[in-house]
Amino acid sequence: MKTILYPGSFDPVTNGHLDVAKRAAKLFDRVVIAVAENSGKKPLFTFAERIDLLKEACADTPNIEVASFDGLLVNALRLFGAEAVLRGIRTSADFEYEFQMALMNRRLNPDCETFFMMTDPDCSFVSSTLVKEIARGGGDISNFVPVCVAEAIRRKWKENMP
Ligand code: PNS
Repeated sequence: MKTILYPGSFDPVTNGHLDVAKRAAKLFDRVVIAVAENSGKKPLFTFAERIDLLKEACADTPNIEVASFDGLLVNALRLFGAEAVLRGIRTSADFEYEFQMALMNRRLNPDCETFFMMTDPDCSFVSSTLVKEIARGGGDISNFVPVCVAEAIRRKWKENMP
């Protein structure tokens, strides 16, 4: 049973994240999407909301589980019995940061391998940050996120800007 751990903030999950997770689900027995409880960023969605949205978006893929972790990623790896970490790469700009993180994680735990998957070119310009910005400005985000997320963002902005 090969498990891969896909960590992130997922604030919120985008079609880019889903593309990576679902393609990985064809290669590994089990994909655990692990939402970082405290990634140092100020999220739009609560921790519970981010998990619920991921669960809804991945409901059609039985070997994807949604979980959470706090603290160091290398410790979460052991906790979930995962062989490796999965991260998506959109552009070369992502690579710099990801490369540094992968090397640091391997220094912290020599068994911690990181697999990188190139996102689909249609998603290479999609980010949670841009999606939130477009939604806030009243733009159409339906091509970049699953339906449940588009609706949740709409509700969120209505709550925050009555
Ligand atoms: O989606 P993101 O925000 O790019 O995800 C970053 C995340 C959550 C994977 C990263 O910040 C992380 O691994 N945080 C856990 C704390 C940790 O282990 N930090 C050291 C990384 S070398």
